[in-house]
Amino acid sequence: MLDATDPRDEGERLGLDELRALQRERLRASLRHAYAHVPFYRAAFDKAGVHPDDCRELADLARFPFTTKADLRENYPYGMFAVPRERVRRIHASSGTTGRPTVVGYTENDLSLWADMVARSIRAAGGRPGDTVHVAYGYGLFTGGLGAHYGAERLGCTVVPASGGMTSRQVQLIQDLKPGIIMVTPSYMLTLLDEFERQGVDPRGTSLRVGIFGAEPWTEAMRREIEERFAIDAVDIYGLSEVIGPGVAQECVETKDGLHIWEDHFYPEIVDPLTGAVLPEGEEGELVFTSLTKEAMPVIRYRTRDLTRLLPGTARVFRRMRKVTGRSDDMVILRGVNLFPTQIEEIVLRTPGVAPHFQLRLTREGRLDALTVRAEARPDATPEDRDTAARAIAAAVKDGVGVSVAVEVVDPESLERSVGKIRRIVDLRPRG
Ligand code: DLL
Repeated sequence: MLDATDPRDEGERLGLDELRALQRERLRASLRHAYAHVPFYRAAFDKAGVHPDDCRELADLARFPFTTKADLRENYPYGMFAVPRERVRRIHASSGTTGRPTVVGYTENDLSLWADMVARSIRAAGGRPGDTVHVAYGYGLFTGGLGAHYGAERLGCTVVPASGGMTSRQVQLIQDLKPGIIMVTPSYMLTLLDEFERQGVDPRGTSLRVGIFGAEPWTEAMRREIEERFAIDAVDIYGLSEVIGPGVAQECVETKDGLHIWEDHFYPEIVDPLTGAVLPEGEEGELVFTSLTKEAMPVIRYRTRDLTRLLPGTARVFRRMRKVTGRSDDMVILRGVNLFPTQIEEIVLRTPGVAPHFQLRLTREGRLDALTVRAEARPDATPEDRDTAARAIAAAVKDGVGVSVAVEVVDPESLERSVGKIRRIVDLRPRG
């Protein structure tokens, strides 16, 4: 159990050998559970010629087939559930950008596990029972709001369920209720920053000491910006609805060296996105998860499309994942060069004269795709500053990424602000 000097729970205090033994046992049980109760998995395993009994070592998992978002969509809404619908206590869904959304379900035990994992995450971020936590992730079908909410309650915190939006009221609530911790997307934190400044309130003077940011990729440059402007510690939380929601992995505040994956419940692999081959520790590839203890919707080798690498544990026994560079879906291929919005974020944030707000516009000129980086000028930037900034960004992209882009430095406050997950890429290319 918890003691005051050691913030780790029982699972976090396992030795490495104990952890691997526990994972082996849980993995076999999870494969059996999926095979016995989800026709989709039974058919997929049979087709691949594997049976849950074939999994003796963790490495044997590589013999099992992958599960993709398309599989979840095809089995919409309840086809991936491994328990009767009556045992499902809650549904969440991820917004389908194309066609049907995907639905996920939780039993009572799943909800409890989820709350435990988010409570563990908040503790790793430096939160303690008695803290006040301002939750500005959206509440609803998105897992961010309710996931953070029940985790903070489980830890013994006072929760302010602000949800996203009504930005001026959020600033008021933070001043009045004096939370120590905020949980929000990094892009919405920047929207809050603008609002603090608009109201003439010093963002460095609030009660906040820790921000737990996730649901979208963000960079070390963004961490520095937020930490500096708010005088807080900014740490990364990762998760996805198909696996459980927020609280799959979390950065520890004392090291800030990548996110510890709560791998006593969510088993990670990194695979080559093209061939599907499992890659050795340290190599960059696509993150794949297998749930070890989930009841309502076990996932076996679920392909996240998130690109990162695995590293050994530091502050915890669990392996770490590096900050996610981006999703394979967000990668822009420009004249043969791969580009992620996070690369542009790094550059925009270190360029004087521009604010940390930017957007990427994709257009087609003849047969070639073209990218325009639109970055917002800081309010005090002169026309010359703007020109210098535009040239500096273009040169840095050419230099660092290896491709030419157009840059427009636009007026302050002219780009759309985020209230949740930000959309960095505006694709204006003709369809088809
Ligand atoms: O975004 C769950 C979540 C809520 C995580 C609040 C953290 C905080 P989905 O809507 O299913 O779930 O989207 C999952 O968001 O596959 C990543 O591409 C991206 N993502 C989530 N956290 C991070 C992060 C929630 N820390 C998808 N860094 C994932 C980078 C992230 N990308």
